[in-house]
Amino acid sequence: MGIATEDLERRIKTCTLCRLHRLRKNAVPGEGPHDARVMLLGEAPGRNEDLRGVPFCGAAGKFLDELLGIAGLRREEVYITNTVKCRPPQNRAPLDDEIKICTGKYLKKQVKLIKPELIVALGRIAAKALLGKEIPITAYHGKMVKARFAGLTLSIFLTYHPAAALYGAKTRLKLKEDFAKLAEVLKTI
Ligand code: URA
Ligand code: SF4
Repeated sequence: MGIATEDLERRIKTCTLCRLHRLRKNAVPGEGPHDARVMLLGEAPGRNEDLRGVPFCGAAGKFLDELLGIAGLRREEVYITNTVKCRPPQNRAPLDDEIKICTGKYLKKQVKLIKPELIVALGRIAAKALLGKEIPITAYHGKMVKARFAGLTLSIFLTYHPAAALYGAKTRLKLKEDFAKLAEVLKTI
């Protein structure tokens, strides 16, 4: 028996491997069934998530719940986590070294243990972490790609970050269209 998802979740809560541990109130390991078919990957915890230790529990999370409904998914059936597990100061984007340390130690293991059939990359940072390179999300949103990650070939569905939609109606509409596409994709896997 190797390490299980709950062991990882426990280790993340006390992790001090990168500078992001210093200002956090709570690390946010992730939440959902440990055999979920679908994993959702965000960027990093925000203020509400840091206070509660729960992923996507603020405004972006409320919109994410609406999007999940469009895809025919319930929050209880997906595993939701972030690229880095601790909140960056002032919600800045996580830095490359923080992403490397955190994903190497935790996300890779979460993916190997949960083995989701599909991962939804929410935004640029999640896409970069999974694909190992920057992609223009405006060109790739709503599309499926395959990538090697953690020694597995993953099916990744690319879309915007739901927080981006809080600033613009256009992105909001595009996200809804992408999650309607995701509903179709899920019927084929
Ligand atoms: N934004 C993220 O990327 N993740 C969360 O958990 C909340 C907001
Ligand atoms: Fe550890 Fe990741 Fe938090 Fe950094 S962001 S302290 S690597 S759990």
